[in-house]
Amino acid sequence: ELQFFFPQEHTLALIKPAAAKKHKDDIMQKVKEAGFTISKIKEEALTREMATQFYRDHKGKPFFEHLVTYMTEGPSVVMILTKENAVEEWRQLMGPTDPEVAKATSPESIRAQFAQDILSNAVHGSSNREHALKSIECVFGEIDTD
Ligand code: PPS
Repeated sequence: ELQFFFPQEHTLALIKPAAAKKHKDDIMQKVKEAGFTISKIKEEALTREMATQFYRDHKGKPFFEHLVTYMTEGPSVVMILTKENAVEEWRQLMGPTDPEVAKATSPESIRAQFAQDILSNAVHGSSNREHALKSIECVFGEIDTD
């Protein structure tokens, strides 16, 4: 059984509101080309509870409230992406947080191509497996993703 050698991992991926409006098809194309399976997908505005879970490590930073508010103001595309090493590979495909850095260092990344600025930077992804599991549970409930 292949799964024994290549265990599948899940991550929580978002297309943020501005990019969900303007670049959804192009970003979905890159997701598929990179070989991710889209295990779940829905389009909705985050609740404050969800946004606070995603950004829990940034609580107290000067941009925290602004970021949470931005993320609850319009619909995002919310996905569970599945692949071997999905958490790390999705972050690689996103590119660096700041689009200027992304353009300079990773021109093929999603943020280099579709981000506006450091807040509206096209996409979000869980930073590690523990965050991924908590975020998936917070958005999709306790589902069996296998
Ligand atoms: S940090 O400061 O290095 O920890 O930030 P980083 O991990 O790169 O970014 C975490 C998320 O915070 C958002 N961010 C900002 N929003 C608004 N204003 C400013 N100055 C700012 N800096 C960082 C950034 O969009 C990241 O969101 P995600 O969804 O994870 O990309």
